Amino acid sequence: MITGKYPSLRLRRNRKSNWARRLVEENYLSASDFILPIFLINGKNKKQSINSMPDVYRYTLDKIGYVIDKAIQKGLPMVALFPYTQQIKKDTFGTEALNENNLICKAIQLIKKKYKNEIGIMCDVALDPYTSHGHDGILKFGKILNDETIEILIKQSLLQAEMGCDVLAPSDMMDGRIGKIRKALDKKNFKDTQILSYAAKYASNFYGPFRDAVGSKNLLKGNKKTYQMDFKNSDEALREVALDIKEGADMVMVKPGLPYLDIIKSIKEKFKIPVLAYQVSGEYSLLSNSIKKRLVNKDIIFESLVAFKRAGANAIITYYADRIDKIL
Ligand code: PBG
Repeated sequence: MITGKYPSLRLRRNRKSNWARRLVEENYLSASDFILPIFLINGKNKKQSINSMPDVYRYTLDKIGYVIDKAIQKGLPMVALFPYTQQIKKDTFGTEALNENNLICKAIQLIKKKYKNEIGIMCDVALDPYTSHGHDGILKFGKILNDETIEILIKQSLLQAEMGCDVLAPSDMMDGRIGKIRKALDKKNFKDTQILSYAAKYASNFYGPFRDAVGSKNLLKGNKKTYQMDFKNSDEALREVALDIKEGADMVMVKPGLPYLDIIKSIKEKFKIPVLAYQVSGEYSLLSNSIKKRLVNKDIIFESLVAFKRAGANAIITYYADRIDKIL
């Protein structure tokens, strides 16, 4: 691979000036690489700040046009919708997930009616925003029930597809849900509805601020270690991905992001399919707070995003996506 040697060979020659560096750069980011998560809340005319996430807000539906307009204008291909559910609407089964008038359903309809196919909509398939115990599935005698949860997830998927959701993103980590959801979608003729599987989703400490944003933080009983992956493992991620691809996933996601670049890289190398990375809430708040405290320069954001691309990610979900023009 190395053909010469010092002093005739000097790698610094290719870095001698800005134009020379641009000429040989291996990775490039554009707005098309980013997905913007949007938090929704009930009510009117609210842009509500979130304590644990600087510069991130919850929006009421009447404000959503403003957020989507900006996303389209910046060239983002897709947004991801997340609901903050009022406590009184939560129960042990997450019933609100199947309410066709819930925040997510209303938001999808609103966006699709106004913007048609100008921007993609992605929605989580999981029960945690709706359960009184904060878990992604049905909790019984201290256990999360797999197969019973899938039956609800299938209904949630069909409902969201019916409303016009483009990309369903099961983030629950139940075994076998991708195949069952795909089958149910096809049976109802939702053949074009894509599935983005949160295939390698770790039981992570980096999700704290998100749980605050969707109002499940103080509700969560115990942890999610019996369904989300152990962060000590990487072979297991490849098995999860292999199964989800077999079951019909169109794209897979690795989550969290920056501490898991090794996982992104091995999945990309092994499976050659679209891999998305999620720069999660804890990563976002750590970076943002450090910038605010002037511990680091704001260019750290760009550097962190390029790292995802270098590892092999096709796209990145990040709370910085609404400011991507300035960052790039
Ligand atoms: C819910 C879900 C979570 C995130 C996305 N979907 C939290 C969790 O699994 O507890 C985390 C996103 C973030 O931290 O930014 N299934």
